Amino acid sequence: SQSGGGGRSGALSPGPIVAGEVQRIDVNPPKGTRDFPPEEMRLRNWLFNNFKEVSRLYGFEEVDFPVLENEALFTRKAGEEIKDQLYCFEDRGNRRVALRPELTPSLARLVIQKGKSVPLPLKWFTVGQCWRYERMTRGRRREHYQWNMDIIGVPGVMAEAELISSIVSLFKRIGIKDSDVGFKVSSRKVLQEVLKCYSIPESLFGKVCVIIDKIEKIPVDEVKKELMAAGVSQEAVQELLQVLSVKSLTELEEKLGSSGEAIADLKQLFSLAEKFGYSEWIQFDASVVRGLAYYTGIVFEGFDREGKLRAICGGGRYDHLFSTFGADDIPACGFGFGDAVVVELLREKGLLPDLSLQMDYIVCALDEDLQGSAAMVAHVLRKKGQSVDLVLESKPLKWVFKRAARNNAQRLVLVGSSEWQRGVVGVKILATGEQYEVKLDELI
Ligand code: HAM
Repeated sequence: SQSGGGGRSGALSPGPIVAGEVQRIDVNPPKGTRDFPPEEMRLRNWLFNNFKEVSRLYGFEEVDFPVLENEALFTRKAGEEIKDQLYCFEDRGNRRVALRPELTPSLARLVIQKGKSVPLPLKWFTVGQCWRYERMTRGRRREHYQWNMDIIGVPGVMAEAELISSIVSLFKRIGIKDSDVGFKVSSRKVLQEVLKCYSIPESLFGKVCVIIDKIEKIPVDEVKKELMAAGVSQEAVQELLQVLSVKSLTELEEKLGSSGEAIADLKQLFSLAEKFGYSEWIQFDASVVRGLAYYTGIVFEGFDREGKLRAICGGGRYDHLFSTFGADDIPACGFGFGDAVVVELLREKGLLPDLSLQMDYIVCALDEDLQGSAAMVAHVLRKKGQSVDLVLESKPLKWVFKRAARNNAQRLVLVGSSEWQRGVVGVKILATGEQYEVKLDELI
């Protein structure tokens, strides 16, 4: 064994754990999951702080839910990919549970639970970890964090316009421009109108959307076959596929006529985008459907203009989700914005922020007897809000300077015995080398 601890074989094979034996572990986290060592954690915190700050600026309240939910919350029957990717199991009390693959069902559950006690509209945001057993690609993993903003109780397109505006604000804050990313916008009402023309029942709507969303992932013939197996006539399939290729609102209006809700909603959204000031960021694209069954109206996704990455974020209106959980419907819309793809994009564009470790002070006793005094100095500084790396052992000065450099400490305080007797400590400004003495109560 190389573990030096008496492990039986030194290999990573599991084998039974016997008391007193060492079992060498695999130091990698499970496939598709991540550790967050300090430098990754700084980046994550920076991103999440931007998510939270934008949510605050837009007047949203933060909420949270358990990562583990009842499985039934996610087992919709529309053939969504997300259902097949569920991490689910039976717990020790024989309950079917699942790690949440997304946050929207939990949000709906909480809204239903709160009932009439909460005044509408609700503007809620959350940042949480989601689990999907995905095939791994760039920016897609088996666990990711999602920033969600949702508006519950507003039926009009003003809500979608506000949500897109908040994502644009996020992009701008982190240095991403409209030349880097855009939003493709459509409405599921477009498909609904086509289906209505062919008398296809409403109950098939979610399923049809989920099938159509696969168009970029599987051959068109497969999509056609699936649609027909679901009960859509050949003629309707043909019409649906044609509508999906429409790239301008004018063309769509020619196809559908100008009286339907799809055209009205989309026109209003584009007109609001002008007022909000983000017209350059959005474009109509009928091929955007999104893969979740519950969307009913406007749908949108953020994409990188170079086309190298998967969707950066996605969302839309889901006015009928609540009734699928047995409650009265409430109009709702929202989006999910993952932490993985946007970081890939920032890296690609050279926009990752410099987030080196920063420390205000490093405090060190020059002799072992003075370690308690050094702790007192650290205490005073921390009370004043300064971050302090207190040297906890006797270390040579060379080591202390090296550590100060690694931590980017601004100042070094050396607690020496003659100074301490005089009621002062020596301070060195590390960037300039300037040194001075200060009384303990006058520090900073
Ligand atoms: P979604 O489109 O499934 O929507 O996911 C939203 C975003 O989460 C994606 O655009 C992507 O940024 C990120 N994401 C999803 N899966 C992964 C993965 N395996 N690895 C990395 N990132 C991923 C939803 O989940 C909806 N619940 C969003 C929503 C909220 N709609 C209304 N409110």
